[in-house]
Parts: sequence; structure tokens; C-alpha cells
Amino acid sequence: MAQETAEQRASYPEIDKFYDSLPDKNGALIPVLHKAQEAYGFLSQDVQLYVAHKLGIPASKVYGVATFYSLFNLEKKGSYRVNVCLGTACFVRGSENILNEFEKELGVERSATTKDGLFTIGSIRCVGACGLAPVVMVNDKVYGRVAPEDVKGIVDEYLGKGGE
Ligand code: FES
Repeated sequence: MAQETAEQRASYPEIDKFYDSLPDKNGALIPVLHKAQEAYGFLSQDVQLYVAHKLGIPASKVYGVATFYSLFNLEKKGSYRVNVCLGTACFVRGSENILNEFEKELGVERSATTKDGLFTIGSIRCVGACGLAPVVMVNDKVYGRVAPEDVKGIVDEYLGKGGE
């Protein structure tokens, strides 16, 4: 008898519940990955393997979809996701310098998470608030007309909040 693999033993009840509730299992992969990310924060290798097992598809297919769409995270993100808009309006108003300032202030490069797990720095394209350019988002909060010298103040706002 084949040995049960780790991902088959792992329990991801949210994935089970969601998948089992789908009336039509065709095209379930992307919705299931969305649900898994929402429930577990990111798509770990174990989660991807579990989804592959659950849907009866190759793990390579799950990995291919998970890496194709930028909205899927394969690594754990910080409690505060700092995203600097690099869309045209923000870019011409110096958002690249703001991004550099966040990297300096937090001591990590873009796409990376600080060691304390608090901040992940990234970039986004136009969020539709070009009138406020340059724009920074921390989770869902929008900061407009940000200057590099505002960066420390924004970071300080979140420090000490204990990763709420
Ligand atoms: S380009 Fe940054 S909000 Fe539109």
C-alpha cells in the first residue's frame, strides 16, 4: 500500500469545505487558491501539494498557476504590506525614491519581509488615485503625496502596534 504523503496527512479544512461546496468542480483551481491564500495567508508548498491532491491534478500545474498570477503569495508576508505605486503618475513624481527610502528605513529590499515579520515592501501599479501621486499603501490604508522624508513617520505609525 502506498505511503500517505505529508500533504495528504496535513489538514486544510478551509480548502476542503470550499472545494466540497463548489457545485461545479471544473475550473476550481484559481478559486481554491484564492480561498487557500485568504485562509492561510500564503500558498506554502504544503498548501499547493494539498490542493493538487484534493483536485487530483499535478502539483506542477498548481505551482504554474500560483506563480503566474502576481496576486498569489508563495511566501509569508509581513503584518504590514507596504506597497509603493510605480504607475506612471506616481513614478514621474518620484515614487521610486520613496521605495528606496522604505528599503533603507526597513533594511530590506523590495519583495522582502523584515526579520520581525512586521513589514513586507513591494510595488503596485496605479491604484486609481493618481491625483494623490505619489501614492503609498500600507495594507488597505492609502497615503497620498508622500515624500521620502515622510517614510520614517509612516513606518513609526506601525511600529509598536505588535503586528495587529
Ligand atoms: S499611478 Fe499611482 S495611483 Fe495612479
